[in-house]
This record gives sequence, C-alpha cells and structure tokens, in this order.
Amino acid sequence: MPFTNSNEHIQTELSHAVLTILLNRPVKRNALTNSMYTALGEIFTQAEKDDAVRVVLLTGGNKDFTTGNDITDFQKPRASEQSYAAEFFFPALRQLTKPVIAAVNGYAVGIGTTMLLHCDLVYAGQGTKFRLPFVNLGLCPEFGSSFLLPQLMGHQRASELLLLGNFFDATMAREVGIVTSVCIDEEVLNTAVEKARQLAEQPPAAVRLTKYLLKRTNETLISETIKIETMYFRERTESPEAGEAFEAFAQRRKPDFSSF
Ligand code: COA
Repeated sequence: MPFTNSNEHIQTELSHAVLTILLNRPVKRNALTNSMYTALGEIFTQAEKDDAVRVVLLTGGNKDFTTGNDITDFQKPRASEQSYAAEFFFPALRQLTKPVIAAVNGYAVGIGTTMLLHCDLVYAGQGTKFRLPFVNLGLCPEFGSSFLLPQLMGHQRASELLLLGNFFDATMAREVGIVTSVCIDEEVLNTAVEKARQLAEQPPAAVRLTKYLLKRTNETLISETIKIETMYFRERTESPEAGEAFEAFAQRRKPDFSSF
C-alpha cells in the first residue's frame, strides 16, 4: 500500500520495512506547523495499520530536527478551550505499537525534545542543541514531560531544564537519559538507519510486546499528565506572558516580563 502524504514539508520513504519520515522545512528550521502535525498524525496512523512497516524512523536529516511548534501558529486566534494542533499529534505518536527511532541533529527544541521521550531509540549528533523553553515562552510543559523528565533525571535536574529553559548539549541529553547514544553529526542518520533495519529484522510480535511491556506501567500516568498539561497549556497560549514572549520572538528582542 503506497503511503499517502501530501504535506510539502514532510517526506516519507518505505525501505527494508523501515518507514522514514523526514521533516523538511529547512528555512524555518523545521518548526512544526498545524498542517505538519496533522500530516504526521495521519502518517503514524497509516504506519500502525500497514504490515509492510515494522519500524518508524523520524528525522530532520542532517540539519535541524525541529525547533518545535511554529510560534506564529500559537498567535493565531483560538478559544482557550479549543484544541491546538499538537494535541492530535500526541496520541498519534503514542498509539504506535511499532518501535519509533529518532535521528536528531541541529536544533531539537520544545516538542523537538519532548517527543523524544516517547521514542524508543534516539540517536543524536554531538552538535545537537536541545532546549525546553516552555516557561521562557510563558507556557508550561507538554506531552507528558512534567512527569517523564523528573522520572528520568530527578526533580532538581528536570527543574533546571524546565524552569530556566537553557540550551543543553547531546552529552547532557545522553547523561539524563533522553538520548540512547551520541554520534558524529554526519553519521547520525546512517547509524539510525542501520539500527532501524536491524530492528526490522527482529520478530515483529516480540518487538511490539516488549515495547508494550516497557511502557505499560507509565501509561496511565502519562495520559493523565498530558490531559492536565494540555488544559493549562491551552490557557497559557492566551496569557499576557505568552503574548509578550511571542511578540518578542517575532521582533527578535528579549521578552520583558518585569511588569507581570
Ligand atoms: N516558530 C516559528 N518560526 C521559527 C521557529 C519556531 N519555533 N524556529 C525558527 N523559526 C524561524 C525564524 O523565525 C526564522 O525565520 P525568518 O528567517 O523568516 O526570520 C527562521 O526560522 C530561521 O531561524 P532563526 O531564528 O533565524 O535561526 P537562529 O539560528 O538565529 O536561531 C533558534 C535558532 C532555534 C535559537 C531560534 O530560531 C529560536 O529560538 N526558535 C524558537 C524555538 C522555540 O522557542 N520553540 C519552542 C516552541 S514551543
């Protein structure tokens, strides 16, 4: 069955039972638009149904992975109780019973970091720059990260990453458990493809069962966390603090929160 995807910023290729999904919006450093989230959701759903796919490989190629949600989309009018596009992406990625591998280079910001918490193997280039700038943008953590990050690395280190929102490098990401291993930048994709093909040759039912067992105990807590985070995140996108942060980004200036 051929893969249907009409999004101009996403490419798919199925080879050796590995579905490679390439984020391809380089002029915006692969920032994810509403339509890209929708397309990714549809691709994940197809991948789950298609027996020809045994492994999903998500990458931005040799450049940036993604700088996260397109900030200009946050500024588009939306009632606070109305869903934002990433909300449809969360369950689509999480429902995949097949393994997901990420090959990461360049910038991996916002959901570019939090989605890695839901992947099974993550290979990152040594030059990858990670960042969780939700607080900096007047927002709050998303995609289960307020549960998964402290679980991985403890409250203190998760707090530093989330409250200060500074960039951190691939060595740190490996040390705190976000990344499986760090590679030379130019070798990340090849390494991930090699691992994906190896995984695609494993007995598929045993692979899926093992993924299920590895994730089972956290499942309810992650769902619950995403639900609560999402409720607050929707409100925060409409907040004056976020308004100032979004405006500052557009104007390429430092945001000023001194009057809040
Ligand atoms: N949303 C919208 N546009 C984005 C973007 C995002 N998340 N990330 C990058 N871009 C755009 C920039 O506005 C710029 O567009 P322009 O050329 O039309 O002005 C283009 O992509 C290139 O990015 P630029 O900012 O010029 O690159 P840089 O090397 O100077 O900085 C970053 C790179 C990642 C530090 C910076 O782009 C950034 O902070 N992006 C926002 C990331 C973010 O906060 N994401 C979290 C969302 S929850």
